[in-house]
Amino acid sequence: MNAPETHPPTPPRRRNPWWRNWFSLAGLVIALGSLFSFLLLFILDSFAHFNNPYIGVLTYLVAPGFLILGLALAVAGALWRRYRLRTVGAVPPLSIDLARPRDRRILGYFIAGSALFLLLSAVGSYKTYQFTESVSFCGQTCHAVMQPEYTAYENGPHARVACADCHIGPGASWFVRSKLSGTYQVYATLFDKYPRPIPTPVANLRPAQATCEQCHWPEAFIGNLDRTFYYFLSDRTNTPYTIRMVLKVGGGNPSGGPVSGIHWHMSIENKIEYIATDKQRQVIPWVRLINRDTGRVTVFRTPDFTNDISHYTIRTMDCIDCHNRPAHKFISPNSAVNLALELNQIDRSLPFVKSNAVYVLTRPYKTTVEATEGIATVLSNAYPASDGLRKTIFAVQTIYEHNFFPEMKTKWNVHPDNIGHMISAGCTRCHDGNHKSVKTGRTIRAKDCNSCHIILAQGRGAELKQFNAAGEVFKHPGGELDPSMACTDCHDGTF
Ligand code: HEC
Ligand code: HEC
Ligand code: HEC
Ligand code: HEC
Ligand code: HEC
Ligand code: HEC
Repeated sequence: MNAPETHPPTPPRRRNPWWRNWFSLAGLVIALGSLFSFLLLFILDSFAHFNNPYIGVLTYLVAPGFLILGLALAVAGALWRRYRLRTVGAVPPLSIDLARPRDRRILGYFIAGSALFLLLSAVGSYKTYQFTESVSFCGQTCHAVMQPEYTAYENGPHARVACADCHIGPGASWFVRSKLSGTYQVYATLFDKYPRPIPTPVANLRPAQATCEQCHWPEAFIGNLDRTFYYFLSDRTNTPYTIRMVLKVGGGNPSGGPVSGIHWHMSIENKIEYIATDKQRQVIPWVRLINRDTGRVTVFRTPDFTNDISHYTIRTMDCIDCHNRPAHKFISPNSAVNLALELNQIDRSLPFVKSNAVYVLTRPYKTTVEATEGIATVLSNAYPASDGLRKTIFAVQTIYEHNFFPEMKTKWNVHPDNIGHMISAGCTRCHDGNHKSVKTGRTIRAKDCNSCHIILAQGRGAELKQFNAAGEVFKHPGGELDPSMACTDCHDGTF
């Protein structure tokens, strides 16, 4: 007699499912809640036409964080419960038998659930990765901290280049490094532990070869650049003065022109190393020039620097030693007011408006709001009932908002620009006539004003129509110049 085919007996349903404890229940509620929020935010973020950085933070950082926390809590609760039951001997031995329909069903659920979870976490982590690299995460989320850099970046020539292209660059190891220091930065922001201003040079900024040179290669031949500088003196009539000059940028690729000019420092055959004795790399008493072709080495020192160089770090010069503010230039009040006057955003007919505008910009304010009010009050008192008052106030307030960040203690002289030599040392950190070759006594060239640029025309009106291709001698708008003085001995960005 044939017994009917039977399935193995299903064990009695346990009365104590693993999740029946407060920890696991709470964990499951948190996990489900954050899963729903994630899905909802994800849909919102994918279809919304606005770009709100906080949605990104919630969707790709906060929601997944809570999902993982919830699941971890649920598992911890289950383990704890199992441990407790086992100590009273109430746990039946675990047995899985795929011949049992219930076990097959559970396996099916398990596989489907895992597949869904893996898919979601793949999409989620890709999106999280993308998000933490995005300009809105770097620049806008930590609003107060990054506001100065973000504002200057938006108004600069690299406004369409992602922060990560210069601050991280390609490759896995820098990615991991940046995420590690980034994690610390998120912590510092949340707990208000960040320094004000954010110090430069950025300690572990990646060498320019891997960032700038992805887009601008060093040998590229740039040739001469034609630059016009507009000035207005601090007198009653705000006398205009214009300088038009050719900058000999040159290049390092002979197929585009002779290897020469300012970018000669970057040509492949030269290597320039230096020692800076301050953190901001503004004081450079020692420079070493190595010609890679001939192997010739020339060391230049200032006379007072006789220290043993083994106590210092030697840095190899790259793009950032000159272009240190390519994306975050904080413009000096003098230059910003000059430009606004040239564009007639500030009314030029107001007497002494140049010096008054610079004056109000440089008062000590605690907040931007206080500054905006202060600017309006001082200018209204100086020029009551004049036609150009409103546009002048607006222009000066805009200059303040774009270049002064009292909450972060950030402004032009906190982060000096190394291009040029008028209001910060810049090129004259080395080209000051004081750096002598130890062997030959030759100095790094300095006093020849025509070696880096030539002045085509200067002055105002008809004077600007006369070009001098050989270069004019600089006529200083501030009177006779003492050749032994550096421009920075007087000029500091406030006149
Ligand atoms: C074109 C390249 C470039 C881009 C794009 C860029 N930076 Fe920078 N950033 C620099 C350089 C170069 C420095 C200065 C490094 C130094 O002096 O050591 C700097 C410095 C900084 C500093 C230090 C403080 C300071 O003002 O020097 C912060 C903060 C910063 N950047 C944030 C950002 C953020 C946020 C973005 C995107 C919104 C961004 N950067 C985009 C090149 C870039
Ligand atoms: C992802 C590409 C990219 C990277 C990386 C990049 N730049 Fe640029 N850079 C640009 C573009 C695009 C422009 C604008 C070109 C133009 O206006 O003709 C520009 C413009 C410039 C200019 C001319 C600015 C001006 O005032 O007109 C300088 C100088 C410069 N970059 C230096 C740097 C330096 C230094 C770095 C590295 C810290 C760097 N760039 C990194 C793409 C890049
Ligand atoms: C010795 C200082 C110095 C070094 C080093 C240097 N530059 Fe320049 N560069 C200049 C000066 C000065 C200009 C003239 C334009 C200006 O005043 O902004 C210039 C111009 C440029 C321009 C053209 C800007 C324009 O308006 O068209 C680019 C792009 C540029 N540099 C990129 C680089 C890159 C990339 C590197 C590194 C490989 C580099 N520079 C290294 C000083 C330097
Ligand atoms: C770290 C030091 C250092 C800095 C900063 C520096 N230079 Fe130089 N520069 C040198 C040295 C060294 C030489 C070679 C001097 C020599 O052989 O007489 C040189 C040579 C030059 C030359 C001559 C190139 C040729 O054709 O022979 C020019 C032009 C020049 N620099 C422009 C600049 C400009 C512009 C700046 C600022 C944006 C600048 N340098 C910043 C160290 C520096
Ligand atoms: C080592 C190269 C070098 C030498 C030498 C040099 N300059 Fe310059 N100069 C520059 C650079 C670079 C700039 C900045 C251009 C820019 O901002 O784009 C500049 C800018 C200027 C400006 C415009 C300043 C501003 O920022 O508004 C004047 C004026 C000027 N130089 C005058 C002189 C005079 C006068 C001498 C001689 C005593 C001299 N320079 C020597 C490199 C040099
Ligand atoms: C002894 C102090 C002193 C030195 C050194 C000096 N200047 Fe001046 N400079 C002045 C004074 C004062 C004015 C007039 C300011 C005014 O009326 O607004 C002036 C005006 C200027 C202006 C017009 C500025 C503006 O925004 O109205 C330029 C450009 C200038 N100087 C360039 C230079 C350069 C480049 C050097 C270095 C080669 C230099 N100066 C060295 C004192 C000096």
